[in-house]
Amino acid sequence: MEDSIPTNVISAKVAAIAPSATLAVDAKAKALKVAGENVIGFGAGEPDFPTPEHIVQAAIKACSNPRNHHYTPTSGLLELKEAVVAKTARDSGLQIKPANVLVSAGAKHAVYSACMTLLDPGDEVILPGPYWGTYAEIISLAGGIPKIVHTDESSSFKATVEQLEKALSPHTKMLIFVSPSNPTGTVYDQKEMTEIGKWVAETGIWILTDEIYEHLVYETTSLAPCLSMPVCAPETTDRCVVINGVSKTYAMTGWRVGWLIGPENVIKAADNLQSNSTSNIANVSQMAAVAALEGDMSSVESMRDTYNRRRKLIISLLKDIPGITCMEPKGAFYVFPSLKALLGHTYNGVTPTTTLELAETILDQAKVAFVPGEAFDAPGYARFSYAVSDSDIEEGIGRMKRLVEESI
Ligand SMILES: Cc1ncc(COP(=O)(O)O)c(C=O)c1O
Repeated sequence: MEDSIPTNVISAKVAAIAPSATLAVDAKAKALKVAGENVIGFGAGEPDFPTPEHIVQAAIKACSNPRNHHYTPTSGLLELKEAVVAKTARDSGLQIKPANVLVSAGAKHAVYSACMTLLDPGDEVILPGPYWGTYAEIISLAGGIPKIVHTDESSSFKATVEQLEKALSPHTKMLIFVSPSNPTGTVYDQKEMTEIGKWVAETGIWILTDEIYEHLVYETTSLAPCLSMPVCAPETTDRCVVINGVSKTYAMTGWRVGWLIGPENVIKAADNLQSNSTSNIANVSQMAAVAALEGDMSSVESMRDTYNRRRKLIISLLKDIPGITCMEPKGAFYVFPSLKALLGHTYNGVTPTTTLELAETILDQAKVAFVPGEAFDAPGYARFSYAVSDSDIEEGIGRMKRLVEESI
């Protein structure tokens, strides 16, 4: 098709959406790889493992069932909603019913459905930063206004009730709470979650709690119990939506299954929205998700052990680079070091002054990709995913170290 259509035909609301910066870095790294360059990529926010075999087998079986060849209820297969109910009680202790669950095309879609369902134009949403850019874009698309609460490593990137209180206004509709966090890997403890939850309940605002990384918490001995906001602060339950999914825990990012848990009337309204957009999520993927939730958790445990080993490795290697400081994240699979001390130096004739420029310089010169902090509204920092092999961590961070040592 000719690309001659004027750009002003794009609606203002869609034209205003910023492209996903995390995917952009990953795309550049992949393009360099395709061009034959030996790039080490720390950009992607997804497990590097294949989906466990018992889940794949369940999907293969589901392909042969004609029920799965046709439309099914938009809100999700009853088997999956029941599996979510059982899994939620098992992992966090939250008691829900199938009517509290809406299955979405991944957790990102669940965030979208929740924001479109709850926000009116002009509603303010408190969003602690550094934050995953998708939240801000979805809030704006839904007509809301993100109110950013900035945090840094001095509080381990955690927002306090005092900071949240300052961001509160008569227009505040919701708080977005994420633990473990993308991009910082920060994990709030039970006391901190209870304090924030109590504050939310007192103010009467809504809370969207994104618990997609619930099982990727280190320095604990077992996978469960996971900390969930409506369990830490039961008074939030009536105005709480929980986001979760199979993507990160079970290495299933490509299957696109997530869900939203909330009060029945919110779920019904979001179901209505999805029934006029996506209809049901692919049935084969839903049956794979059932197998994931009901199946043996030993593969999850072993992936978690591997991430934990890589977490320690990447932290120690990053801290060995002159100028880099790095908080020790307790969850997800990201580290979020400060690269401020690397700015303003000259690397083979190039002098980056922002982490965005530094990321480009390091990609060009050392063939190492990471996501600059600008993508998370946190210039000066960078996100490295350690869902990559130990040898790639050693090689990639080693290359960065050599470039920095030659240049500083
Ligand atoms: C905090 C958080 N929530 C949700 C998602 C999206 O997950 P899904 O792949 O299930 O859409 C991500 C993915 O990076 C994430 O980091």
